[in-house]
Amino acid sequence: MNTLISILYLALIGLVTALPSSLIPRQDISGLASAFKSCVSLQNSCNATMVDLSNFYNYTSCFLLTACLSGMESPAQVLNVSKAPATQPRLTESVFYAITNGNSYMTQQNYINAYYHQISITPGGSYPDDVTYITDQWSTIAAWTGFCATGNIPYANLVDWLEYSSVPGVCPAVASCNTSTTVPTIQMIPCVPQPITDNGSCTEMATQCEFWVTQGLFQNEYCVLASFCYAWSNTDVLLQQVYPLNASPVPTTAQEAKLSEAVFYNMTGGAASMTQQNVIDAYYGGLTGTWTSLGGTLGGMPEKTDNDGPYPTSTDYVVEFWGIISAWTGFCDTRTIPYDNLADYLSFAATSGYHPTC
Ligand SMILES: *[C@@H]1O[C@H](CO)[C@@H](O)[C@H](O)[C@H]1NC(C)=O
Ligand SMILES: *[C@@H]1O[C@H](CO)[C@@H](O)[C@H](O)[C@H]1NC(C)=O
Ligand SMILES: *[C@@H]1O[C@H](CO)[C@@H](O)[C@H](O)[C@H]1NC(C)=O
Ligand SMILES: *[C@@H]1O[C@H](CO)[C@@H](O)[C@H](O)[C@H]1NC(C)=O
Ligand SMILES: *[C@@H]1O[C@H](CO)[C@@H](O)[C@H](O)[C@H]1NC(C)=O
Ligand SMILES: *[C@@H]1O[C@H](CO)[C@@H](O)[C@H](O)[C@H]1NC(C)=O
Repeated sequence: MNTLISILYLALIGLVTALPSSLIPRQDISGLASAFKSCVSLQNSCNATMVDLSNFYNYTSCFLLTACLSGMESPAQVLNVSKAPATQPRLTESVFYAITNGNSYMTQQNYINAYYHQISITPGGSYPDDVTYITDQWSTIAAWTGFCATGNIPYANLVDWLEYSSVPGVCPAVASCNTSTTVPTIQMIPCVPQPITDNGSCTEMATQCEFWVTQGLFQNEYCVLASFCYAWSNTDVLLQQVYPLNASPVPTTAQEAKLSEAVFYNMTGGAASMTQQNVIDAYYGGLTGTWTSLGGTLGGMPEKTDNDGPYPTSTDYVVEFWGIISAWTGFCDTRTIPYDNLADYLSFAATSGYHPTC
């Protein structure tokens, strides 16, 4: 067994056994283990048949391996473990149509058939005990692509899953196709959608905010900027992500004090309204000479460093989130927002259910 895969396997068994036994019947562990062994068979098959690492998805077994690990490892991680380059051509159409018998979409049954067939032609191949695990793998992809209703995934959407599901900020259409929420899984932090131009800058801004958030989300410039770039999500989610783990319960936006006037006027240079340029300057300024703490975000006083970025790939990113805020406050025409309106956005947008655009 490949080292990384076997570590993953141990982690998986560890995770399952660590869950309260009332949640997971004992026999489920062996079912999961056998499903995982079948993934390892696919890995061996992928390794044995692949001759061109830079065309990973031209091999049925390598595609099936990626799908098999869908709930555990992202496609990018599967490429990495397989020592294949991160950038790959799209899933070869011949591989896709061979599995779908020429149809324009892949059904759950197509996937199951391909899966069992591949194992049947793999020397020493190990079948899963229970087909449920295989249908769960397919459901993960169906949820991401938004085809829960039929489970029939068109070529373009399947290819999108391979290409984009590992990109931070690209969120699944729905978290799961299973609407039954009877199993309280390890608390899921919601995915925060971001345009590609974000380049990880918003996560860095949220990391900066982490140092000061207990003083109040809207009392610190980094946290105000992080609240801005969470425009595609909301500040309740931001609070869940940046609040210290030992803080329980995490406050909600409604419990946060109103936007600090000092922070507002510092960002506008004393003017009564905030312009798009003010926000661009503050956002880039906030990512220049970032703070760090030797003991992590929870330990000790943070210190300023000479580290910069990551910056967005373009100022269009700031223009986009400021556009969302301008629309909410009703200032699309000027994109210049007075204090009271901006303070209202911060305090109330998270729960307003109002999502206009300019
Ligand atoms: C895909 O693999 C097949 C062999 O299985 C090969 O003939 C074909 O040229 C490959 N396609 C591409 C686009 O590399
Ligand atoms: C693939 O197989 C080769 C030879 O059997 C082995 O050296 C290599 O580590 C394997 N690669 C992976 C990613 O398992
Ligand atoms: C896999 O990831 C590690 C750590 O990020 C990186 O150093 C390595 O170059 C990656 N391997 C490939 C083949 O991309
Ligand atoms: C949905 O999840 C519940 C709880 O884990 C499970 O009992 C049920 O079988 C699942 N339904 C489907 C269709 O997978
Ligand atoms: C005001 O802005 C400057 C530079 O933009 C920054 O260094 C400073 O920390 C800010 N002050 C407050 C109170 O946020
Ligand atoms: C985007 O992010 C990468 C990785 O963090 C970084 O190396 C690069 O400089 C960033 N781009 C810009 C424009 O800062």
